[in-house]
Amino acid sequence: MSIATGVNVAYLFAAVCFILALKGLTSPKTARYGNAIGAFGMVVAVAMTFVNRSVSNVALIVVAIAAGVVIGVPVARLVKMTAMPQMVAAFNGVGGGAAALVDISDFTKHAHSGVAIWIQVAVVLGVIIGCISFSGSIIAFLKLQEVMTGTPITYKGQQAVNGLIGLGILGLGGTVLSTTSSPVLAIMAGIALLFGIAFVLPIGGADMPVVISLLNSFTGLAVAASGFVLHNVLLIVAGTLVGASGTLLTRMMSKAMGRSLANVLFGAFGKVQESGAGASGSGEDRPVRSGSAEDIGTMLAYAQKVVIVPGYGLAVAQAQHTVKELADVLQAKGVEVDYAIHPVAGRMPGHMNVLLAEADVPYEQLKEMDEINSDFPSTDVALVVGANDVVNPAARDMVGSPIYGMPILDVDRAQQVVFLKRSMRPGFAGIDNELFYDPKVTLLFGDAKDSLAKLVSAVKAS
Ligand code: TAP
Repeated sequence: MSIATGVNVAYLFAAVCFILALKGLTSPKTARYGNAIGAFGMVVAVAMTFVNRSVSNVALIVVAIAAGVVIGVPVARLVKMTAMPQMVAAFNGVGGGAAALVDISDFTKHAHSGVAIWIQVAVVLGVIIGCISFSGSIIAFLKLQEVMTGTPITYKGQQAVNGLIGLGILGLGGTVLSTTSSPVLAIMAGIALLFGIAFVLPIGGADMPVVISLLNSFTGLAVAASGFVLHNVLLIVAGTLVGASGTLLTRMMSKAMGRSLANVLFGAFGKVQESGAGASGSGEDRPVRSGSAEDIGTMLAYAQKVVIVPGYGLAVAQAQHTVKELADVLQAKGVEVDYAIHPVAGRMPGHMNVLLAEADVPYEQLKEMDEINSDFPSTDVALVVGANDVVNPAARDMVGSPIYGMPILDVDRAQQVVFLKRSMRPGFAGIDNELFYDPKVTLLFGDAKDSLAKLVSAVKAS
C-alpha cells in the first residue's frame, strides 16, 4: 500500500470517529465517549498530516500546534461553565479565520497557474465564509464577555446597508474569479470581515448561542471549501459534518425558543420590548406569596412527587451540587424526585444536562420536556430553581407575547409551585410571568444556592 493510500485509509478511519463522536454527543450518557472518540479521530488526522509527504513547513506547523496547546488547554480547563458559549465563539472564530487563511495562501500561490474554476470558486467561498465566521465570532465573544454591550446595536436602514455589503462581496467574488487578482481577493476578504461584524452587531447578547451555532456551521463550510482546494478528503468530510450539525443545532435552538431563525438574526430581540401583551419588564406591585424556607421544606418533605425545574439561575448560582443534595434528602424520605429539562433552559444547548451531570445527578432522573409535561398534574410540588421564561404560561396563552409559541414546561399544572429567585426581575425575554401571582405559587427569594441549602436543612428537620 502506498503512503498516499495509507493516509487516505487513516483519514477514512478519522471520519468514522467524527461520525461516532456526533452520535455519542446526542445523549448525556454517551457524551464523554463521543468527545473522547472525536478527539482520538483528530489526533489520527493530525498525525497523518505529518506522514503525508506533500506537507512542507513542518517546523512552523509544530510551533503553531504548540502555541494552540499552550493557549487552548488552560483556557478550556479554567473556563467557567457559564462562560462556555464565549469560549466556543472564540475557538470557532479561529477555525473560520484559519480556513480563510489557508484558501488565501493557496490562491496567491496558484492564482496564475491555470487552476480549475471550481477550485477558484471553493477558494472564494472559503475566504468569504471563513472571514464572516471569524469577525462575527469575535463580536459574539466580545458581547458575551461583556467587553462590549450585549444589547442589539441597530440603526435605521441597517438591513439595507447589510444587504448592500453582501451584494458587494458577491460582486467582488465574481471579479476575483474573472481576474484572479490577489488585491481584489484581499479587498473582498476585508469586506467579508466587515460584514461579519455588521451581521452580528444587531443581535442581542443572549441570542448569541444561536448565532455561534450558525457561525459554527459557516466555519464547517469554510473548512469543507479548504478541503476542495487542498484535495483533502478528510477536511471535506469534517467540514461538512460541522456545517450540517451546526445548521441542525441552529434550527433546533430557534424552534425550542419558539422563534424563527430570521427573528433571531434580524429581530433585535432584547433591544426594546414591545409594550404589547405580557411585555412589561421589571415586575409589578401586585401581591405575590413569598414563603419561608421552613414552610417550603415541610411542603416538600410531605410531598409524594417533586419535579425540580432548573434554569439559568441554577447556573448563575452554581447550585447544582446543592440541588442534588436536596433531591437526595427528599428521596431518603421516600419522595419521588425528577428533573424537568427544557431544551433552551439556561444559555446554551444542554446547559442543564451538563450542570447536573457535574453534580452526578443520575441520567434517569432527567426528563425531557415532552416526557415530563404529562406528569405535572400528578406532581405535588414543582420546584423551579432559577428558571422563568421556560415555565411562563404566556408562551402558551398570550398571543402577542414575545415568547408566544415557545414550548414550555407546564409547571402551572402541578398542585403547588415554588420559585427560587432573587427578585421579581424577569428572565432573558424581559417579560413578566403571570404565574408568580397564582395563589398556588410560593416564592422563596434569595440566591438559589443559599435557598437550596436552607431547604435541605428544613427538609432534614421535618
Ligand atoms: P430565564 O428566563 O433567563 O430566567 C432566569 C431566572 O433566574 C430569572 O428569573 C432570575 O431571576 C433567576 N436567577 C438569576 N440568577 C439567580 C440566582 N443566583 N439565584 C436564583 N435565581 C437566579 O431562564 P430560563 O427559564 O432558563 O430560560 C432561558 C432563556 O434563555 C429563554 O428565554 C431562552 O430562549 C433563552 N436562551 C436560551 C438559550 C439556550 S440554547 N439555552 C440560548 C439563547 C437564549 P432573579 O434575577 O430575580 O434572580
